[in-house]
Amino acid sequence: MDENKILVLSGDGVGPEAVDEVKKIINFFNKKKILNIAIEEDLVGGACIDEHNVPIKDETIENAKKSDAVLLGAVGGPKWDNLPFDKRPEQGLLRLRSDLELFANLRPAISFDPLIHASSLKPEIIKGLDILIVRELTGGVYFGKPRGIEDLGNGQRRGINTQVYTTDEIKRVAQVAFELAKKRKKILTSVEKSNVMESGKLWKEEVEKLGKIKYPNIDLKHMYADNCAMQLIRNPKQFDIILTDNLFGDLLSDAAAMLTGSLGMLPSASLGKINNGNYSSGLYEPVHGSAPDIAGKNIANPIATILSFSMMVFYSFNNQNLSKIIDKSVKKVLDNGFRTEDIMDKESKKVGTKEMGDLITKEIEKNF
Ligand code: IPM
Ligand code: MG
Repeated sequence: MDENKILVLSGDGVGPEAVDEVKKIINFFNKKKILNIAIEEDLVGGACIDEHNVPIKDETIENAKKSDAVLLGAVGGPKWDNLPFDKRPEQGLLRLRSDLELFANLRPAISFDPLIHASSLKPEIIKGLDILIVRELTGGVYFGKPRGIEDLGNGQRRGINTQVYTTDEIKRVAQVAFELAKKRKKILTSVEKSNVMESGKLWKEEVEKLGKIKYPNIDLKHMYADNCAMQLIRNPKQFDIILTDNLFGDLLSDAAAMLTGSLGMLPSASLGKINNGNYSSGLYEPVHGSAPDIAGKNIANPIATILSFSMMVFYSFNNQNLSKIIDKSVKKVLDNGFRTEDIMDKESKKVGTKEMGDLITKEIEKNF
């Protein structure tokens, strides 16, 4: 069996303990020869700053490029909050995204029936919710130049960031979204602020053009980002795939995530170019952050990281069946009433991070 080399960057806060639970699943797959995964580990974020004074090393980036996939825990924490931008833990993650050209970020927001009461919205509004946000990840205001803080010399300073998109940057991420739409409900909502921003106007025009030429069978809709935020809370099931830029995608994916009850449940995949039908060096990480307040206490929810690994199996290893088994096993454990603290309700049985990982691994084992 071909070996899959994965780079594990568990990072800060709850990252390492969530990643540990994924390793249990990987060990089982390796032992049973279901997969042949070789793990290499390295530092990112605050953990790397403490050790090497940079949020990620050049050699780690090179190693990531050579790997079949990267699994990332989380980065950041109050300890490193006062560092300048280019030295902050988040920079490690942003460099990985940018240097590996992972321009398409897939963030599913799926509501699990047993957790329907964990949402702040009414059950009927979110029951069966299954939307996918495709967020552009290597452009826009996150990377646009000029940027910085200028001293205007009169006691005033000016902070500058630039929202910028080129035709190609828009087209390549739109293409990923259209292709995914073909395999889902064939509805795609493209989101921008073309009423205010030139970059948004270009976004809309390019997506429209690509849709007309290459994807006439996809029902393409356009929506302003502020309206989209409102519609997500009002009636989220009207959406199937939302395609949007880096900044709007950051905001809308947090909102969409919370519809499902807990950020602790949601995975993500960041994908780049396709080589021989497989995405090259995809990066897989939970949508939640490092949650330093609960780190090291065995209470964090490892499910988002486990589901991120499932996305890796799906997109990077092209093994849809195995990915389904992981997802189903997570669902089964929830159906059986086990919960970590963040998704706890009165009737359920509370378990810690490790126990949740064990339960899911055992459930997976039953399939083989
Ligand atoms: C996310 C996070 C990151 C972002 C941070 C940690 C840099 O919020 O992945 O959504 O803003 O993209
Ligand atoms: Mg975010």
